[in-house]
Amino acid sequence: MPSPIRPDLAALSSYQAEEYLSLDHPIDKLDANEVSVDLPDWFKQKLGAIAQSEILANRYPDGSYLNLKKLIAEYTGVQPDQISLGNGSDELIRSLLIATCLSSDSKHGSILTLEPTFSMYGILAQGLGIPVIKVPRHHNDFSIDIEAANIAILSGTIKVVCLVHPNSPTGNLLNAQELAWVRSLPEHILVVIDEAYFEFSGHSLVPELAQHPNWLILRTFSKAFRLAAYRVGYAIANVELVTALEKIRLPYNLPTISQLAAELAMGHRHELLSNIPEICQERDFLFTQIKNLGISVWKSDANFLYLRTPKDSEILSSLKTKGTLIRQTGGGLRLTIGTPNQNQRTLERLKESINYF
Ligand SMILES: Cc1ncc(COP(=O)(O)O)c(C=O)c1O
Repeated sequence: MPSPIRPDLAALSSYQAEEYLSLDHPIDKLDANEVSVDLPDWFKQKLGAIAQSEILANRYPDGSYLNLKKLIAEYTGVQPDQISLGNGSDELIRSLLIATCLSSDSKHGSILTLEPTFSMYGILAQGLGIPVIKVPRHHNDFSIDIEAANIAILSGTIKVVCLVHPNSPTGNLLNAQELAWVRSLPEHILVVIDEAYFEFSGHSLVPELAQHPNWLILRTFSKAFRLAAYRVGYAIANVELVTALEKIRLPYNLPTISQLAAELAMGHRHELLSNIPEICQERDFLFTQIKNLGISVWKSDANFLYLRTPKDSEILSSLKTKGTLIRQTGGGLRLTIGTPNQNQRTLERLKESINYF
């Protein structure tokens, strides 16, 4: 039967989130880099009370998001008009691809990704018919192969360079040489610096934004702020870029409850972020323990670790059977840091699985 759907979509796969709610045993969900501890009750109660008194369910949300933008501007040290809000930073990735790569004559610009990296850049680009040029990172430390990246850029089609800082799934920050390269990228290329894990790494390129009108920094409330369920992300860039993103986004893209949750989180950020040192400590402890098992594992500046074993698929399913969900991606396994109890269980289950295979 003839179909109205684009034939090239058949070759695409959607982002695969693990199915876990239907499992009949409790699961340590360590596959999506969320913080494993839910928001405190006092926060939920406050948010519930605010929602009760402030949300008019029959009205659209405040589409300017000015209050939230002001709070984020204060948190990040920029102006409110340098911020665009998205239904998760995923939505902003799609908007920036539309704003830069799509062309009315179908000769779309392409994007450059440094692999392995966050898969949504490629998935969203392909969904829009935008070509993705993938350059592999160096095998030993996952730093960028700058020479290969420059050769790709010489093709002349690249409109966006996608950088994740620290990178997911590998956990590494941009090193001095990579930073110098990023600073040297020409102004006709949009440089996306995805700082989804900033609160764990403590390293940001926001202070350099003023000198680079072609940089756009992405952040999210889904990770350290524990608001994944509410879907709030933001972009920080110069006003011209932000204006372009605002033209692309859907009206009312953020539900009122999500705005209120993010506003409350900004106001209580010191309490919400207070467990970050413990997560980082646990991460470094787990790194050493996993290394001691003889597994290849890399130092991380985020809330996850990246490992490679000769039997990744078998280890993944063995852990799942034992009750630990992690993610297989980019030719390795990415493991989110959980609570101390979860991490201990992960280690034991990893040990059992490694010994078995
Ligand atoms: C690097 C990176 N960027 C963006 C996102 C998406 O975040 P959000 O929940 O804001 O859409 C993720 C989620 O895992 C991520 O790892």
